[in-house]
Amino acid sequence: MLSGKDSIRIRSALLQWYRKNYRTYPWRNPNATPYLVMVSEIMLQQTQAYRVAKLLPHFINRFPTVQALSDAATAEVIMAWRGLGYNNRAVRLRDAARIIVRDFEGNIPPDEYELRKLPGFGNYTAAAVATFVFGVKTVVIDVNIRRVGTRLLTKDAVERTSGLDGTLAKLLTAFIQDSDPSEWYQAMMDLGSTICKARQAECGICPLQHHCVSAHSITASNTKLREPRRREQTFMGRPNRFWRGALVELLRSNSNGITKNQALRALQLNAADKTTCEWFDGIVAALAKDGMLVSARGRLHFAD
Ligand code: ADE
Repeated sequence: MLSGKDSIRIRSALLQWYRKNYRTYPWRNPNATPYLVMVSEIMLQQTQAYRVAKLLPHFINRFPTVQALSDAATAEVIMAWRGLGYNNRAVRLRDAARIIVRDFEGNIPPDEYELRKLPGFGNYTAAAVATFVFGVKTVVIDVNIRRVGTRLLTKDAVERTSGLDGTLAKLLTAFIQDSDPSEWYQAMMDLGSTICKARQAECGICPLQHHCVSAHSITASNTKLREPRRREQTFMGRPNRFWRGALVELLRSNSNGITKNQALRALQLNAADKTTCEWFDGIVAALAKDGMLVSARGRLHFAD
C-alpha cells in the first residue's frame, strides 16, 4: 500500500511533467462549456483524441447547446457525426440531450449516478463528466489510466486484468484527495498515450520511473491486459461494424434514401445471392434496432 508521502511524490512528479508537456485539446480549454466536455467524452469513447479534436468543432457549431441537440432529427445528428464512426453514439447522445432537457431543465446533472442512467453513458463516461465538468472526486478509469495505474502500483503482471479495477480504484483515490482530480486524470491519460504506451513503455523518459514498481521491466507480453475477446461476425473478411458504417455513409450521401438493391450494388455485394441478402437484412435490422434507420416502402432511410 502507498504511504501518504509516496502518493504526494508521485502526484507532484506527474503533474510537473504534465504542466510542461500537456497536449492542448478543445475539451481542456478552461472556457470549454459543460456541454462541449460531455460531447467530447462520448466521442472519445471509441475515436482517437486527435480525430475528435478535429471533428468536434463542426458538431458543436451545428448543435451549440443541449437544447439544440435535443431538437435535432436523427438524420441531422448522424450527418454531423460523419468521420467519427460508431454512429449509434450520435443518436444516443441526442437522446441523452432530450432527457437532460426534460428532466434537468437542460443542465447536465453533476451526479455520477444520474449521468450513468443517460443513454450511451457507461461507468467511465459518467465518472469523466462528473470529474472534468464538476470537479467531483470520483474514480475515473479508462484504458490509459488502467494501464498506467496497474503498471505503476501493482507487482503481479499476470493479474493485470480489468477485474483489478476495484483495487486500482482504491489506490487512485489517494492521488485525488487534496488536488484537482481533472488535472491528475488528464495527466495519467497523456502519460499513457505518449510514454507509458500499451506496446512500448518508454521507462527511460518517464517522470514516474523512480516510483513505478514495473519500471524497466515492462514488456509487451507481461503488460497486456487480459480483456475478454469480443469476436464480431464478419462478412467478406470485414466485421459487421464496417458494413454498418458503410451503409450509414451511403445514406448520408443519399438524403432521399435508397433501395436495398441500390445499397447492395453500391457496397459491391451480390444482390442475387440469398446468403448475402439475408446477412444484409441483419445489418439493416441492427441499425433499425438502434433507432438509426427505417425501411419503408422499399426504401432505407434515416429514422425520423
Ligand atoms: N480519452 C478520453 N477522455 C480523454 C480526455 N479527456 N483527454 C484525452 N484523452 C481522452
